[in-house]
Amino acid sequence: MTLPEGQATTPQWYPLCPADAIGTGQSKQFSINGTALFVVNQGGCYFAFENRCPHLGIELQWQPDRFLDAEGEFIQCSTHGALFLIEDGECIAGPCRGQSLRPLPIKTDAGQLLIKVP
Ligand code: FES
Repeated sequence: MTLPEGQATTPQWYPLCPADAIGTGQSKQFSINGTALFVVNQGGCYFAFENRCPHLGIELQWQPDRFLDAEGEFIQCSTHGALFLIEDGECIAGPCRGQSLRPLPIKTDAGQLLIKVP
């Protein structure tokens, strides 16, 4: 997806997808205006992060749209197994322990997910 020219420098709510396209316990990746990001649905609450590990800057997914550990409790780096809290992106185990993924503002409106990208 690409934002219309002239809007790239002003963060604004951008339509992402229908909220029900990401089921509970699932995650989905997107690329908006050059920013790789992913969204996690945990118990009906949506959390969005830039898809970039804070210590190496690489993407985290195991496979397309697969960001969570086997139990669906944490975001997990596919390269190192590092664990990140879904609620705020803080790394609690692994080489970037104490650092955090960059959260992105996300909300629902009329059944649609809306997100702000940098
Ligand atoms: S790239 Fe940072 S934990 Fe894997």
